[in-house]
Amino acid sequence: MQQKKLIPNHIAIIMDGNGRWAEQRGLTRVEGHRAGVRHIHSLIRHLYTRGVKYVTLYAFSTENWRRPEDEVNGIFRILHDVTVSESKKLNKYGICIRHLGSLEGLPEDTKEDIKKADELTAGNTGMTLSVALNYGGRAEIIEAVRRIVTAGLNPGEINEKVLQSYLYIPELPDVDLVIRTGGEMRISNLLIWQTAYSEYYFTPVLWPDFSVAELKKALSEFSRRKRRFGGLNQKA
Ligand code: FPP
Repeated sequence: MQQKKLIPNHIAIIMDGNGRWAEQRGLTRVEGHRAGVRHIHSLIRHLYTRGVKYVTLYAFSTENWRRPEDEVNGIFRILHDVTVSESKKLNKYGICIRHLGSLEGLPEDTKEDIKKADELTAGNTGMTLSVALNYGGRAEIIEAVRRIVTAGLNPGEINEKVLQSYLYIPELPDVDLVIRTGGEMRISNLLIWQTAYSEYYFTPVLWPDFSVAELKKALSEFSRRKRRFGGLNQKA
């Protein structure tokens, strides 16, 4: 009997390898990041048509500020261009765009871009695309704890559900599948609370080469995984 293909509800993607892709071609790192957005639209569209409800893209971590100023500026320029060119198109599909991370320290025009994309797509229910920007998983948990303390909760009132409700995007569900390109096998501080039971897919393919064909391989691998969440049976 043919089994129904298991589709992840929430996929988080660590888009790694832009720098090496550029280096292999004698290009600058910023040119590598520019190439890193060429498949973005088709990847998101594919996930949307497959019925994935949440996609999180790791665009810029709190640690990425340590990179040379030119590269950081280049990444923010690219982010601006992508936000402008994509938000209208994604809005047409009914995709809701959310910022995941801290606004503190972000350039004013980036904050403006986030606000516009958020306002434009706020009512959409087709899929939630969260862009992790100035994001750190530990910082997210520390921020949540600070707000719990400020709210004056008693220790006995704190449980997983309560802590979740103080995270950056409380309604963001657990991650089912983490995809990391570029050959490294680590989580790099992405959604550390929400990935407690995630499946991982690591590929040596560098991010600018991660096309829909590569994405299909990741989805196919996921559908073969047996997920038990600490129990004996697979949960749907
Ligand atoms: C890592 O490659 C990639 C990044 C730091 C992400 C770059 C972000 C963008 C291009 C912005 C686009 C964002 C969206 C939401 C479309 P790397 O520089 O670490 O590569 P390396 O490991 O080969 O040096």
